[in-house]
Amino acid sequence: MARAVTHTVATNTGAIIRTTDEEHVPRMAEHEFDPEELLATARAAAAEAGRLLVDGRPERLGVAQTKSSPTDVVTEMDTAAERAIRAAILGRRPDDGFLGEEGGSDPGVSGVRWVVDPIDGTVNYLYGLPQWAVSIGAEVDGVPVAGVVLAPQLGEEYTAVRGGGAWLDGKRLQVREPEDLSRALVATGFGYRAERRAVQGRIVGGLLPRVRDIRRGGSAALDLCAVAVGRVDGYFERGTHDWDRAAGRLVATEAGAVVEGFHGAPASEEMVLAAGPRLFADLHGALLDLGADETGY
Ligand code: IPD
Repeated sequence: MARAVTHTVATNTGAIIRTTDEEHVPRMAEHEFDPEELLATARAAAAEAGRLLVDGRPERLGVAQTKSSPTDVVTEMDTAAERAIRAAILGRRPDDGFLGEEGGSDPGVSGVRWVVDPIDGTVNYLYGLPQWAVSIGAEVDGVPVAGVVLAPQLGEEYTAVRGGGAWLDGKRLQVREPEDLSRALVATGFGYRAERRAVQGRIVGGLLPRVRDIRRGGSAALDLCAVAVGRVDGYFERGTHDWDRAAGRLVATEAGAVVEGFHGAPASEEMVLAAGPRLFADLHGALLDLGADETGY
């Protein structure tokens, strides 16, 4: 039996977010969520995982398993960090749902779901490059309300709550708008499958003469944060997963970026495109010119 349920979220700006959905009894009729409390939970879990990933990294870190291709790797540390994050969050909030890159999904019963990438930028982590992050987002009925992207080896923590702005270590973030597309520094990423990479390479090749330059950092979460902090002007990628985007998307939107897919669709595995509103339109147009919205790659 289903019934409409209202979730109430108070933000640190005093705004109240209410989301209504159909739920099944015996779930509670009304839940109250404090996004600041969710953020505090996320930060504590990220800090614990960050310590584990830095201090516990074995000298000779190997690949524990592969996923979509031989280069799509999981290390023993991905699994250990996700376990630590799950225990830290669900220890505090046992009724919440959880979606982790390495551990499947559990819907929970509270209306809150955690979307977690224990190491976004696993290949960088494997090679000892510092550009990787612990990414933890909290959603209420699918609406992102709090997120943290912690990059321990860069010494940076990005945070956001819905309606409360995006922050890097206490400094409020604001996206940059370059004069036009030709002045834009654009980040992107490539999937793990060879066939997809071949098409992505062709698209980037077509974009390169039209922009200032391209960057490939190796962590989608940090690419979204880079848009927020103005280290790049825009970012796009096909093939990212919910856990890659959950926290970084909130950081970018709270810093004033538009973060969407093609033709007004929500950001998804098909496309995540993030930039200030003016550049977003130009980059979107350029990507359509290059056929980036075509299916089959
Ligand atoms: C990957 C990184 C990379 C992006 C890939 C993601 P992972 O996440 O974010 O930058 O290009 O699409 O899968 O595998 O390191 O968690």
